[in-house]
Amino acid sequence: MWAMQEWRITMIDGQKVLFSGMQATGTLTLGNYLGALKNWLTLSDEYQCFYSVVDLHSITIRQDPAELRKRARNLLMLYIAAGLDPEKNCIYYQSHVSGHAELSWILNCFTYMGELNRMTQYKDKAAKHADNINAGLFTYPVLMAADILLYQADVVPVGKDQMQHLEITRDIAQRFNAIYGDVFTIPEPYIGKTGAHIKSLQNPEKKMSKSDENPNASIYLMDDADTIIRKFRRAVTDSEACVRYSEEQPGIRNLIDIYCACTGKTPQETEREFDGKGYGDFKTAVGESVVDILKPLQTRYEELGKDRAYIDGIIKKNAEKAGYYANKTLRKVQKKVGFPEKIRS
Ligand code: TYM
Repeated sequence: MWAMQEWRITMIDGQKVLFSGMQATGTLTLGNYLGALKNWLTLSDEYQCFYSVVDLHSITIRQDPAELRKRARNLLMLYIAAGLDPEKNCIYYQSHVSGHAELSWILNCFTYMGELNRMTQYKDKAAKHADNINAGLFTYPVLMAADILLYQADVVPVGKDQMQHLEITRDIAQRFNAIYGDVFTIPEPYIGKTGAHIKSLQNPEKKMSKSDENPNASIYLMDDADTIIRKFRRAVTDSEACVRYSEEQPGIRNLIDIYCACTGKTPQETEREFDGKGYGDFKTAVGESVVDILKPLQTRYEELGKDRAYIDGIIKKNAEKAGYYANKTLRKVQKKVGFPEKIRS
């Protein structure tokens, strides 16, 4: 039996709540790691954390069912392999807690079409999947708001690309609170100082993305050392031949961002370190810094893959934990909007 009692006491003791999630679509990239996962690790001692594998969001794009199931499990294992302790952090599947979908419906009725129409991610995805512009894709940000508000999250660590979704979450929560009183905590985004916007290695104007068709554009978390170094050596840069952190050199700037996020150095220290050296040396050093950071994660991931029963146990008990907190908020919201109470014998 898991320690529900202990968990509740910590919440009552006043530790703040953190919520974040990732989609189980595609293979996680270095962008996901540096923009989100790395910060999750840093913050996990300070907060009561809920880290969800957001599989409900994933079906806004057509998925192969067996593949989605596999990817979702792999992603859950990756959270743990990255160093998140599943006994302390609530790591679970979004689809195992029905409160996400239930709250999402209610919040849909407090969100305006005009607000959703402005979402840039919706516009991008609609353009990319013109044959499947479904209502779920349109209301995707409302489900994201439900994820966050369901746990009364104080903080949401994400990369820069999710900022607009955080803003709409805050707007929806404030609107609801203005009508019904102090129901939801208004969440703050947490954007890391480094790594919040990692760009494609082949086109530094674009973000590094799981769904990029060119495998050389992204570093995948399971890439081996040779592949990582090779991809960095092929990264698109410029002909200036000097390692400088400037807007005019977006490719080099992106590599400096990656190097700094992996080593903890500043851009100025990096410029000094590579002063007078060529791009070849610099690219190799960036690649090596990434290999160093990913190696322990990859080793742990392999080990976890062998322990099915352990992972199954985590999935079960964390779904119960998440469900407990989700229900607390959901009941409150249902009551506020006027749904009749269930008769409990
Ligand atoms: P997703 O799965 O696209 O990305 C997961 C996290 O990785 C960050 N990220 C990046 N950060 C820096 N550079 C990049 N190139 C890069 N690419 C991705 C994202 O900002 C994100 O933090 N809608 C969300 C998932 C979600 C969620 C939530 C997040 C659903 N509900 C509630 C927070 C709270 C998404 O699709 O992320």
